[in-house]
Amino acid sequence: MENLKAQILKNKVPTHLAIIMDGNGRWAKQKNEPRIFGHKNGVNSVREVIEASGDLGIKYLTLYAFSTENWNRPKLEVKTLMSLLVSSLKKELKSLQENNIKLGTIGNLNDLPKSAQKELKEVKEKTKNNTALTLTIALSYGARDEIVNVIKNISKKVVNNQLAIEEINENIINNHLYTFSLPDVDFLIRTSGEQRISNFLLWQIAYAELYFTNTLWPDFKKENLYNAVLEYQNRERRFGKTSEQIEKNQ
Ligand code: IPE
Ligand code: IPE
Ligand code: MG
Repeated sequence: MENLKAQILKNKVPTHLAIIMDGNGRWAKQKNEPRIFGHKNGVNSVREVIEASGDLGIKYLTLYAFSTENWNRPKLEVKTLMSLLVSSLKKELKSLQENNIKLGTIGNLNDLPKSAQKELKEVKEKTKNNTALTLTIALSYGARDEIVNVIKNISKKVVNNQLAIEEINENIINNHLYTFSLPDVDFLIRTSGEQRISNFLLWQIAYAELYFTNTLWPDFKKENLYNAVLEYQNRERRFGKTSEQIEKNQ
């Protein structure tokens, strides 16, 4: 594994890595266990990926933990996921501090149980001056919901004469997204074999490299991340230009 890590070019790691952590339920089912057993084991993969991202010098890591659509799951699963969130935050605070990691969230936090809101507020406050890695957890997050909010907020400013229609551009939209303080996503990983976006960061992934792996989330470890980043480093990101232009750095 150290060998794998050594092949990664430190100056070419994605600045912003986003992950759709999928497959906990199927992982548990394969073991004849309840779905929540998969979620519990998924927490270990979260820890591994945070550590490995820090080691590689990735500056922004955004994890999709709960979508706006996930509220439609069975009540007991939702409830257990929320208490898992609270207990994990309590457990991980120390390690976030030790590793200089700043916690942020995107999504409708008001929809979460009060206990989760309180814990998140506390951990965010305590880690706000950390600088090595910005860890953002998407909770009750939906990209369409985010875009609706952007439109509402920009419209309000136009109506109140704080902003002219002609001034609206991509920058203004960026600044109104939940992710206003984060750069665009460079690399998006989805585990579990599904090849879809499921309402995650639609605006922000416009030019992200996409990576799909069959590995189920609880099996996704440091080694899997290193392999994914190695593949990322072999991609040519052209942003609409030609290969020749990219080679000549034009
Ligand atoms: C991802 O695993 C975790 C959440 C969406 C909360 P799933 O729970 O979606 O697992 P599968 O896709 O059913 O296997
Ligand atoms: C996407 O996974 C959301 C998260 C990983 C939190 P889902 O399991 O909810 O996605 P679909 O329903 O299979 O598209
Ligand atoms: Mg799923």
